[in-house]
Amino acid sequence: MRPPLNTSSTVPTFYPGPIALQILGIETSCDETGVALFDTTRGLLADALHSQAVMHADYGGVVPELASRDHIRRVLPLTRQVLTAAGSTIRDISAVAYTEGPGLAGALLVGAGMAHGLAFALGVPVIGVHHLEGHLLSPLLATPAPAFPFVALLVSGGHTQLMRVGGIGDYELLGETVDDAAGEAFDKTAKLLGLGYPGGPALAALAATGTPGRFRLPRPMIGSDDLDFSFSGLKTAVLMATRSRTFSPGDRADLAAEFENAVVDVLIAKTLGAARRTNATRLVVAGGVGANRTLRQRLTDAANARGIEVFYPAIEFCTDNGAMIAFAGAMRLSGGKPPGAFGVRPRWPLATLETLTT
Ligand code: KG4
Ligand code: ZN
Repeated sequence: MRPPLNTSSTVPTFYPGPIALQILGIETSCDETGVALFDTTRGLLADALHSQAVMHADYGGVVPELASRDHIRRVLPLTRQVLTAAGSTIRDISAVAYTEGPGLAGALLVGAGMAHGLAFALGVPVIGVHHLEGHLLSPLLATPAPAFPFVALLVSGGHTQLMRVGGIGDYELLGETVDDAAGEAFDKTAKLLGLGYPGGPALAALAATGTPGRFRLPRPMIGSDDLDFSFSGLKTAVLMATRSRTFSPGDRADLAAEFENAVVDVLIAKTLGAARRTNATRLVVAGGVGANRTLRQRLTDAANARGIEVFYPAIEFCTDNGAMIAFAGAMRLSGGKPPGAFGVRPRWPLATLETLTT
């Protein structure tokens, strides 16, 4: 069990009031089945996760049909596990939140089916949550939590975006990748270096043993007059480096270190640029690449030197999880979001979400 959300003055004022509600969160948008129970007065009660990474590894990427079938197998046992760990029963659930999108349609449908079926049987509301809103709000589960407004760097396997966050649902897109997401670049480069799938953590581990700067990779769009990113050229540059006649297997760690540094350089430059443009004094990093320790260390140092605070989710809540969905669902529920009809939204722009005015 994790510590409850703190209730110090740094917690935004939207934090739910005295009514104790237990929200079950279900995440099935891609290759992780995540379930969690969030209590609006006590904080996160329990969470459980099953990663399908091993299952997809043989294929070098996520196989959507296999992902859906595995979510079906896992979602009920994980729900039981979470209820037991929380000391709750199914009757304690006040509402069910699930990832409505974006993501793989078949995988999303598993969570939607489970959530709607359970909510129907219990006679409680069901709330469809935007996956990226879950990521974006996940630092609010940590202590201390950032107050609004802040600039968020969302760096996952599918997205790389800078957003100005004024409140729940008040999201202004400042810039995004024009091609590959940062996590996708990590995964593809890891594959090139023979590190398997998913490659981000493996590449980061290899990079930690290497020396950046021995190879020189580009920093795409680092000087462009906007807040957009481009990462697809980087993997091509890595490929070219591995094909050079002098490249040996012993050079892989140095190349990995240079790749990681190149991505981190660009992410830091653009994120600080976004803070400058919006006069932000708080930054938030969310999404799987937010687990990268080089990024965390270097961004914190660079931001702090400019008087800017940086907030991160706990490492285990950077990648997909049920806790962020339960939490975002709780925020939406306490803001009066009406229960939704059955459905999923495989494509769903974050900026179209409604703003909560509580
Ligand atoms: O947020 P997430 O779990 O899933 C999406 O919504 O996409 O992010 C997964 C991505 C993958 O591309 C993975 O390689 C990357 O996050 N990732 C990392 C690290 N841990 C996960 N990338 C770099 N360094 C890490 N330590
Ligand atoms: Zn995600």
